[in-house]
Amino acid sequence: MVDRERNVYVVRRVHFSAAHRLWNPAFSDSENWAIFGQCNNPKGHGHNYTLEVTVRGRVDPETGFVVDLTKLKEIMTERIVSRVDHKHLNEDVDFLHGINPTAENLAIRFWDELKDHLPGGELHRVRVYESDQNFAEYLGMEGKP
Ligand code: NI
Repeated sequence: MVDRERNVYVVRRVHFSAAHRLWNPAFSDSENWAIFGQCNNPKGHGHNYTLEVTVRGRVDPETGFVVDLTKLKEIMTERIVSRVDHKHLNEDVDFLHGINPTAENLAIRFWDELKDHLPGGELHRVRVYESDQNFAEYLGMEGKP
C-alpha cells in the first residue's frame, strides 16, 4: 500500500476576536463603499474569528497520533492568536501590514506563519471563519514548489 493512502487529517480550532476594516487605498471612497459596504466603516468593526488548521500525516505507531493536538494548539496560540487577539488587524499586527484583512488574505498569512512551525505532520489546510456562515480556506500552493 502506498504511504499516501495512510495519511490521516487532524483538525484543531482556536478562537480569537479582532477588529478590521476592509479597504483598498487604490480605490476612491465611493468605490470602497460600493465594494466593501459596511465593512469599509472607517473605524473598523469586530469579528469573533475561528482559525481551523488541518494537519496531514501518517499515524505514529507508538502514540497513535499524526500530531500532538495539544502541541499544535500551543503553536497556533503562540504564532497567531497571541498576535491577533483583541487587536486591530489593519494596524496592530506586524505580519499583516499592507494587506486588506479579508478572511482570504488572513488564511494565506496564517498559513505562512504556521507552515514551518508545526510539531508534526504537514500543514494541509487553513480556514479562517469570520462567522458560522463565512469562511475562507487556503491549501497552500497545492503541489507546486
Ligand atoms: Ni468584517
